Amino acid sequence: MPVIAVAHPLVRHKIGLLREADISTKKFRELTAEITRLLAYEASADFPLERTTLSCWSGPVEVEQVAGRKVTIVPILRAGLGMMDGVLDLMPNAKISVVGLARDHETLQPVHYFERFVGHLSERTAIIVDPMLATAGSLIATIDLLKARGCQDIRALVLVAAPEGIAALEARHPDVRCWTAAIDRHLDANGYIIPGLGDAGDKIFGTK
Ligand code: PRP
Ligand code: URA
Repeated sequence: MPVIAVAHPLVRHKIGLLREADISTKKFRELTAEITRLLAYEASADFPLERTTLSCWSGPVEVEQVAGRKVTIVPILRAGLGMMDGVLDLMPNAKISVVGLARDHETLQPVHYFERFVGHLSERTAIIVDPMLATAGSLIATIDLLKARGCQDIRALVLVAAPEGIAALEARHPDVRCWTAAIDRHLDANGYIIPGLGDAGDKIFGTK
């Protein structure tokens, strides 16, 4: 099942608070970061470990560390930036790749305007972050870009997912797992998630 609804009580509590219509920009940002930390914890549960030996106060000791090259976090501009720090809190050495996509209000198709990827993508785990999985057009386009550059371990974190977007993601990229704090009812005629959060980018950046 590529889309995993994280059922942890703290996630359920915090996503509820995030739905408040008159929430302040500060509170929205704080809750977004807090939920993202919990999603990132879940999404990293199967990271491979390797053994190494270091000098402990009592002599050499064998310890475990996460194997392989550093993770790359991939925020989708703009709103994904609001989730970046939540992942960095758990993976402070992660590299950052950035994709700029803006959804056309008429067609709902993502319009690509920026990209900057770190190197060695074929050897890294990529964690895409974007609060809203609506039609999934933005997430699918980002996964397409990563796969075209050889990335093989692609994961995504979102705050709210719509059933329409989940179906589209599962059809196009069944190998990519996506952790979400909530699965909502449906999309409205304008492609907004119901009940959803409204425009997540505007809430994170304080625009509108
Ligand atoms: C929002 C959101 C996602 C996208 C989701 O971004 O942050 O990127 O829409 O919709 P989709 O699943 O139908 O593609 P938007 O394009 O509004 O840009 P912004 O982050 O700059 O506000
Ligand atoms: N983008 C948002 O910010 N919110 C939605 O509900 C759908 C797309």
